[in-house]
Amino acid sequence: MLIRTKISYYFHIFAPADISKIAVMKEIRILDKTFRELITEKAILCRIDELARQMNNDLAGKDVVFLGILNGAFLFAADLFRRINLQARISFVKLASYEGTSSSGSIKELIGWNEDIKNKTIVVIEDIVDTGNTLERIVDELVIRKASEIKIAAMLYKPAAYTKDIPIDYVGFKIPNDFVVGYGLDYDGYGRNLSSVYTLIK
Ligand code: IMP
Repeated sequence: MLIRTKISYYFHIFAPADISKIAVMKEIRILDKTFRELITEKAILCRIDELARQMNNDLAGKDVVFLGILNGAFLFAADLFRRINLQARISFVKLASYEGTSSSGSIKELIGWNEDIKNKTIVVIEDIVDTGNTLERIVDELVIRKASEIKIAAMLYKPAAYTKDIPIDYVGFKIPNDFVVGYGLDYDGYGRNLSSVYTLIK
């Protein structure tokens, strides 16, 4: 089995008898690496409720195209888009820059543009913004294609790794500069189906 889940129970030292104080630390193994739960499914979905509410307010009355960046953003895009009550369309493009657990730095080709975005408000949906190279490439393309307004939504954002000036309008969670999997993010193709986000421990 490729993904194994281990649940360890850590009792709170000053209130061991209080069941509500028990912290559950979930660990999983994917291929040769061990990861620990960082953001629970419940926290993710609560945060997406808030982001969607903000977008529904900010973008009211506009004709919006949501643009999901595959593969990683497919879960975030689905959970976000079903909470959007604007006149909106959704489309996906694919542009990968990552292999293994460190950025290769090389941007691969962009595929799947089939939406006319001229004069439209675009909300880019990213799973994670790391160096920002992917984001920059997409924003450049949106400018060439004459989008009238560009908003960026990222489920996860690593401020310590970010090297660009493009403002990120909607951030799910700021996280440390560590490798993470789950909720659409993968380690060598595995782990995308996990409902929580896990961080690499060894
Ligand atoms: P950037 O171009 O360096 O910002 O990286 C963006 C892409 O790299 C994301 O869309 C992810 O696919 C991938 N990526 C960045 N950090 C991680 C990570 O911690 N885990 C898994 N994939 C990541």
